[in-house]
Amino acid sequence: MIDIDRLQKQSRIIGTSDGVQQLLEMIAQVAPVDISVLITGESGVGKELVAKAVHQASKRNKDQLVVVNCGAIPEGIIESELFGHKKGSFTGAGEDRKGYFEAANKGTIFLDEIGETPLETQVKLLRVLDNGEFMRVGEAKTRYTDVRIIAATNKNLTELVKKGEFRQDLYYRLKTVTVDVPALRKRVEDIGPLVERFALEFTRSNDILYRGFMPEAIRVLKQYEWPGNVRELKHFVEKILVLQKGERITVEMVQNELIDVLPLEPIHNPALPVLVNQSSDKAEIDLILRQLFMLKQDTEIIQKMLMSGQVPSTVTQFPIMDPADLGIPLPKKSMEITDEVQKLIRDDAIGDMAIKDLEEEAITRSLRFFNNNRRKTARSLGMSERTLYRKIEEFGLEPKIKRRK
Ligand SMILES: Nc1ncnc2c1ncn2[C@@H]1O[C@H](COP(=O)(O)OP(=O)(O)OP(=O)(O)O)[C@@H](O)[C@H]1O
Ligand SMILES: [Mg+2]
Repeated sequence: MIDIDRLQKQSRIIGTSDGVQQLLEMIAQVAPVDISVLITGESGVGKELVAKAVHQASKRNKDQLVVVNCGAIPEGIIESELFGHKKGSFTGAGEDRKGYFEAANKGTIFLDEIGETPLETQVKLLRVLDNGEFMRVGEAKTRYTDVRIIAATNKNLTELVKKGEFRQDLYYRLKTVTVDVPALRKRVEDIGPLVERFALEFTRSNDILYRGFMPEAIRVLKQYEWPGNVRELKHFVEKILVLQKGERITVEMVQNELIDVLPLEPIHNPALPVLVNQSSDKAEIDLILRQLFMLKQDTEIIQKMLMSGQVPSTVTQFPIMDPADLGIPLPKKSMEITDEVQKLIRDDAIGDMAIKDLEEEAITRSLRFFNNNRRKTARSLGMSERTLYRKIEEFGLEPKIKRRK
């Protein structure tokens, strides 16, 4: 019996959902047995990946897997492509040629988009499926090939049979072992691991700094329908990483890219410091009040600084300053709006910072604030001067501070 974990690693089929686990179990069951397999599922769900996994896990894996996209070959030449032809059998047939079925001898042939094959070709497929027999175009000699057939379709073959576009006998022959790959929206728990894998692969191979997706951004991705399934998700991840090069991917970035698409349920924006179950009017009022309070705070900080003769460069962006430290009392009323105003770190920095970075920024900005006076800086930060010297050295701040003077 094939080990599922190993199969998952080797096949690179990502997913922790029940859907993917069942899929892997099915592959493990059918791969070692030399029978034909029909893989069904919407476009982009990973049917080709499954076909490759079946071949890889089979006894035929030392030989070729020949992939044929039946939908992409013009009707006029499909038989010659599949079964080969004899020299002179049609205009342009300058020499004898092997077809895919011969090329795949001892290995596996993957007939993708089998629903697209013309009816006349389907008869010949049935024959080769039954006993490996076929004839090259323009030749009367029966040849034999030892191939395993894996077919795939994103069409509903039952419907095609009803419409007379697909042979019933071939359909019954093919569907004995059917592996259905579920749509991505039916296994949203796979979205997180898929995004992570695609993002890592893409940023690595394109030398882009990867700082991850915010958990909220992943949550939003789970609310989208993904009609193009995993392929669409992959392209989406690559696109957003190019557009937001080196940034940590936030919910807003994702929403902006998904703007034309209706989500399955309303999206909660974590940037709003309000409870989800509040009415939108109340939420908006709270937001406005909060903004006003922050504006008032900023004005008071600037006033205080101007009065004490200290002019910082970027007051409004100072992330870790408590107005109370500057002797500015926090207005009581605003405390009722939200308790978050007391915090030193901006909400939107949560999840995107390291203590070391905070420390470095605090030291750099405090030094600048106190005109490089190390004693005052150390005292304001509550550390000894020796520690401050050590930190300056550790973070390599000396040249930075000097440059900016
Ligand atoms: N579970 C998965 N784990 C990792 N990558 C996946 C997974 N499923 C699909 N992919 C990737 O998504 C893309 C589309 O997959 P694939 O070509 O196998 O889909 P398909 O079902 O054959 O689509 P179509 O019907 O359009 O031919 C590929 O790049 C594939 O590697
Ligand atoms: Mg495919």
